[in-house]
Amino acid sequence: MLVTAGPTQEAIDPVRYIGNRSSGRMGFAIAEEAARRGARVQLVTGPVSLRTEVPGIIRTDVTTAAEMAAVCKSLTSSSDVVIMSAAVADFRPADASAGKIKKTDQAPVLTLEATEDILAWIGGQRRKGQVIVGFALETSDGLAHAQSKLQRKGLDLIVLNTLEDAGAGFGHDTNRVTFIAPDTDPEALPLMSKTDVARALLDRLEPRLANA
Ligand code: CTP
Repeated sequence: MLVTAGPTQEAIDPVRYIGNRSSGRMGFAIAEEAARRGARVQLVTGPVSLRTEVPGIIRTDVTTAAEMAAVCKSLTSSSDVVIMSAAVADFRPADASAGKIKKTDQAPVLTLEATEDILAWIGGQRRKGQVIVGFALETSDGLAHAQSKLQRKGLDLIVLNTLEDAGAGFGHDTNRVTFIAPDTDPEALPLMSKTDVARALLDRLEPRLANA
């Protein structure tokens, strides 16, 4: 099983970066629960302050979206399940400065360029029987956006996060998610610990693996 976690950091200059508030906890909870259930897990994580001691997890630390893409591409074909819970940057500075940007009278303008969409690449390479899960964090029209993402990226399931609840999402130990899969009604779960979300997700995936 390939699981990604955490944020990515995209350099502006040697000391500054564009990042996001992902703590990595959701991805680590999935990796740990899967390993406890006997999966051999490749955990690819952006910069987080988490440790894991659960046996059965091989951890690779990366910093940028490009590094995460390279590692995931090398692991995809040998994975029966891919769960992309990382909050990968969609854009990065087009020209990271080699030296620290000095303060001047004029505010600098950052030009951004798109990063590669790792999940879309993985969806495009899918082999028979492989199960591919994406995450979505939306602040409005979540269901509609997540459903179109499911189709566009060729996924088996998407985990929709909401920021609407106190206690859900980035930096919390709890999460409120909705599972969205093709041809079934969305399944909205109550606020629960990220470990319980991981358990619920893996409970939904296990029958698919048995069928594969
Ligand atoms: N993802 C990825 N590579 C990227 C960006 C995102 O693999 N460069 C993955 C995330 O790990 C997550 C899903 O795609 O599983 C989330 O997609 P998201 O960035 O929220 O949505 P987009 O498809 O970029 O759509 P939009 O931002 O337009 O809603």
